[in-house]
Amino acid sequence: MKAESSPPPYRLAAVCLGLLCAALLIAIIALSVYHNACISSPQMAHPLTVPEFICKACPSNWINMNSTCYYFSSDAMNWNESFFYCRFLGANLVIINSDEKQKFVFEHSKETYWIGLNDAAKEDTFMWVDGTKLTKGYWNKRQPDNHEDEDCVTINPVASFQMAWNDLKCSIKERFICEAKALDLSADSLS
Ligand SMILES: *[C@@H]1O[C@H](CO)[C@@H](O)[C@H](O)[C@H]1NC(C)=O
Ligand SMILES: *[C@@H]1O[C@H](CO)[C@@H](O)[C@H](O)[C@H]1NC(C)=O
Repeated sequence: MKAESSPPPYRLAAVCLGLLCAALLIAIIALSVYHNACISSPQMAHPLTVPEFICKACPSNWINMNSTCYYFSSDAMNWNESFFYCRFLGANLVIINSDEKQKFVFEHSKETYWIGLNDAAKEDTFMWVDGTKLTKGYWNKRQPDNHEDEDCVTINPVASFQMAWNDLKCSIKERFICEAKALDLSADSLS
């Protein structure tokens, strides 16, 4: 019997250790790429693109935009019910305070939706659900007209995002849009 006919056991062990090292190295590289993508600015296009939603998560059937989650309801409720339903989901009726946000919400509004704005407390003083006053509106022609005491505001699928809002009676049932901050799953926030 010759010893050379089969490799000595130490050689097998060396090969196994080598493979193990390679696997660990790959795992470390993968984890560090994931970590870097999560801590880098979500707006920044990362060369090794780990999608933003891995780090800033939204529930399924919510839309993730700039680390904010948007829910476009399929059920219709009156304004108050919509308000409390969003709260129940840990969210708020949407607050639209920039052209970009108005464009984004408008583009996803294939129906009429309640937004988080009304002038129920004081006629013609429109307030957002976070207590801030409306600064720029995107009203449709001749709106708001308070026709038969309309105090709550909808966004509508019309021709232009600039003129998409209308005031309606708060008791009417419409769909509604909730927003919430995305859940931060980055390594930093979890540690
Ligand atoms: C919501 O309900 C409360 C309590 O019933 C009422 O006082 C308030 O006016 C309602 N608000 C709107 C906007 O309908
Ligand atoms: C998302 O963020 C980008 C970059 O800051 C900005 O240009 C864009 O308008 C934002 N979109 C919305 C809907 O807020």
